[in-house]
Amino acid sequence: MAYHHLVSDAPIGPELIYEGKAKQVFTTDDPDVVLVRYKDDATAFNAQKRGTIQDKGVVNNAVSAMLYEELESIGIATHFLQRVSDREQLVRRVSIVPVEVIVRNRAAGTFAARYGVEEGLELDPTVVEWCYKSDALGDPPMNDATAVALGIATPEQLEALFDLSIVVNDYLLARFANAGLDVIDFKLEFGVDAAGELRLADEISPDTCRLWDSGSGERMDKDRFRRDLGGVEEAYHEVLRRLRETEGEAIDMPARDDEREHVRDLDALGGEHA
Ligand SMILES: Nc1ncnc2c1ncn2[C@@H]1O[C@H](COP(=O)(O)OP(=O)(O)OP(=O)(O)O)[C@@H](O)[C@H]1O
Ligand SMILES: [Mg+2]
Repeated sequence: MAYHHLVSDAPIGPELIYEGKAKQVFTTDDPDVVLVRYKDDATAFNAQKRGTIQDKGVVNNAVSAMLYEELESIGIATHFLQRVSDREQLVRRVSIVPVEVIVRNRAAGTFAARYGVEEGLELDPTVVEWCYKSDALGDPPMNDATAVALGIATPEQLEALFDLSIVVNDYLLARFANAGLDVIDFKLEFGVDAAGELRLADEISPDTCRLWDSGSGERMDKDRFRRDLGGVEEAYHEVLRRLRETEGEAIDMPARDDEREHVRDLDALGGEHA
């Protein structure tokens, strides 16, 4: 009888820890490292709409790997370690802070609908929103007090999430501008690693950003899938192609003494906002 596998010392192969809508997360030999596998599955409207986008996983793995490597190079701590195949990357395992950070440079999607404004309206200052990361509840919006009162995040974490998100936004605006794309809005997730350090986690891709062609305003992101605009695969590939074409170009980021000045302390912006 082949019971030997029960007592074998052989290393246990990768185990699926979590399967989400867009990615699978596997264990590795290192407890502090997980393997993320990007799928072609696409969902929208809290998974009410489902489909697949061919090669989305390949594109998002490549886009996210490129951007996280670049963000690391400007001093942002991320979970990213290494892209290991077309669809897979190794990342530091983190405990995800259950806050989805939404950064909005222009009105679109639920924000435009909520406030009854036109999509594309410029937002000054840039709007940073928190949502409670809970699929069961549909990721409801929350303010600082809610996050703290419910033990979802500490005031210090919110401060850090805000500052990091502004720097990431500054970088992405300039990086995508080089690629002829306007960053309308995007979602970030952060986590705490084994050493207690806060790191940018999850992904940045056309699934999690709204990207409009700078010239035509054409949507180059998951809205093509959400709204049945067609040319979904082509748009994802085009984003990757442009990012690759402009890799290494100078990034023109605004100088900021204190990121918090940007929005959190509206008084710091001067009289008109006070
Ligand atoms: N470095 C990391 N360590 C551990 N978990 C991570 C890391 N980066 C991302 N995650 C988590 O892995 C999962 C990725 O899967 P996916 O993006 O498919 O999830 P999802 O369907 O969007 O669902 P949800 O994000 O609501 O859990 C997410 O839960 C994400 O928060
Ligand atoms: Mg996700």
